[in-house]
Amino acid sequence: MAAWKVPLADLQFGPEEIEAVTQVLQSGWISQGPKVQQFEAEFAQFLGVEHALAVANGTAAMHLACMALGLGPGDEVLCPSLTFVATANAIRYTGAQPCFVDIVGLHDLNLSPTDAACKITPRTKAIMVVHYAGFAADMRAIEDMAAQHGLAIIEDCAHAPGAVYPSPPGNQKVGSRGSSACFSFFSNKNLTTGEGGMVVTNDPALAERLRVTRSHGMTTLTWDRHRGHSFSYDVVAPGYNYRLDEMRAALGLVQLSRLMAGNARRRELTNLYRQKLGELPQVQLPFLSANLEASACHLFPVLLRAEVDRAQFMSYLAEHGIQTSIHYPPIHKFSYYRQLWPPVYDHRLPHTEDIAAREVTLPLYPSMTNQQLAEVAGAIRDFFRKE
Ligand SMILES: Cc1ncc(COP(=O)(O)O)c(C=O)c1O
Repeated sequence: MAAWKVPLADLQFGPEEIEAVTQVLQSGWISQGPKVQQFEAEFAQFLGVEHALAVANGTAAMHLACMALGLGPGDEVLCPSLTFVATANAIRYTGAQPCFVDIVGLHDLNLSPTDAACKITPRTKAIMVVHYAGFAADMRAIEDMAAQHGLAIIEDCAHAPGAVYPSPPGNQKVGSRGSSACFSFFSNKNLTTGEGGMVVTNDPALAERLRVTRSHGMTTLTWDRHRGHSFSYDVVAPGYNYRLDEMRAALGLVQLSRLMAGNARRRELTNLYRQKLGELPQVQLPFLSANLEASACHLFPVLLRAEVDRAQFMSYLAEHGIQTSIHYPPIHKFSYYRQLWPPVYDHRLPHTEDIAAREVTLPLYPSMTNQQLAEVAGAIRDFFRKE
């Protein structure tokens, strides 16, 4: 691993995580079982949802959510292009077409409900909403539009565990009001199990479909048969093996207990970045008018002014031991997705294309010190002084 002075993200495991995983290893049962059940129950309670199903990763969560809605060839699903490619890939797994929607603008990098409404066709069946960087998208507008056109909603909450929707009824956690919502526990996420994910819903019928397709379409689990609760099974749907294991569930339980403190520290650091970079004319900061208290502050994205050379900026920071990234190269520009759509499609996402060329993500993680943040801000100021 590169020895960054300030990495983009960092892990924070203590003796509790080591103890939790060790206990599982000593228990004699490591595939989906009681720890997964406990992780699901505690995650559901934390979010305020009826059903939570732990899965192998966030992409699997989104694939299952798409399948559970019965999406297939000929269907279209609205989604942002400014997101990780997994958002659109999960739609493609079902044979449905992602239909890319622009973001709101420089101040809000979430999907624009206005542009989404313009892209609805008779084939549109659902909308996949990403809460970029941990800031909730405008769910009220999206829900109104979805209700008007009979669209299902899937929320990609990979960036937003522990975030809350800023609009009333208040204090409602992100992921708790859509028909289904998907979380990722990949290693750079606010809650990590290395690989892992969760799909949640309040709809019992949907939960049952998710449960069955998560495990080969089978009606009973190996764990049930191990306990002598059942001896055989039927296969009632085309399913996958998208289960989470006990080690990751044990890790997830400890990580869940640390999540809100970690998010609070991320907010402090976000505020500090804003104080230190807010005055720089070469840098624009998105989400300034969003409610910071409601955000999970997963990322700290900055937008360089068009005249700044992004590659030089990122190289300069790398030379000074500071790791940065880009969130995201837009999906509609990838070779695979370009060939899915007629070329005219390339020209309808002006804000996404503008932002994608100028965005840089700065380091942000709970164990980052104020001193490290000051070093990042100092290096940025030095870069612009030299320019
Ligand atoms: C916005 C977004 N959606 C989906 C995913 C996919 O999650 P996973 O890597 O757990 O499959 C990620 C992260 O990796 C993500 O950042």
